[in-house]
Amino acid sequence: MDSNRLSKAMQTALNSQMNKENLQAQIYLSYGCWADSEGYEGISNFLFRHSKEERDHMMKFLEYILKRGGKVAVSEIPAPSANPTSVNDCFEKVFKQEVDNTKSIYSLVKQCMEEEDWATWNFMQWFVMEQTEEENLAIELLDMIRVAGGKDASHSALFSLDKRMGERGGDARLAQEVTTDRP
Ligand SMILES: [Fe+2]
Ligand SMILES: [Fe+2]
Repeated sequence: MDSNRLSKAMQTALNSQMNKENLQAQIYLSYGCWADSEGYEGISNFLFRHSKEERDHMMKFLEYILKRGGKVAVSEIPAPSANPTSVNDCFEKVFKQEVDNTKSIYSLVKQCMEEEDWATWNFMQWFVMEQTEEENLAIELLDMIRVAGGKDASHSALFSLDKRMGERGGDARLAQEVTTDRP
């Protein structure tokens, strides 16, 4: 008796998103190495921490597929795209990557609705929320580099930005934690 509670199409889609999260982890890892070799230790640490977060996302998909009686297919992952050319470029790439990932999370949610797979729909809501936080984090990075001078940021502005990045956590602040006292 087949105990797989996922449709074939859903299993494929979940596996593909799982491998995509793994690719994201690799991309952040390679950007982190780039930042370190450019002398930006704070940015590098931030990117390494974020890489780990993406790997945790991969594990969430993996565990869910197994839990539903599905088959996990860990695939090879393409090499990360070219290194950033500047901190500005790096943060723009991070933003684009997160927006792209939101799109693929949304398309999975749409598929859940079409299939009326409410268990997977429910599971996916965590990722919908998480992507809001990740986009928020990426927007914060863009704000930081813009204030530092964007493409023309001076060495001293980049130095302070790097220091600030080293001091902050890898996660975006959860919207739920915001109150009128702590905006
Ligand atoms: Fe992710
Ligand atoms: Fe992400």
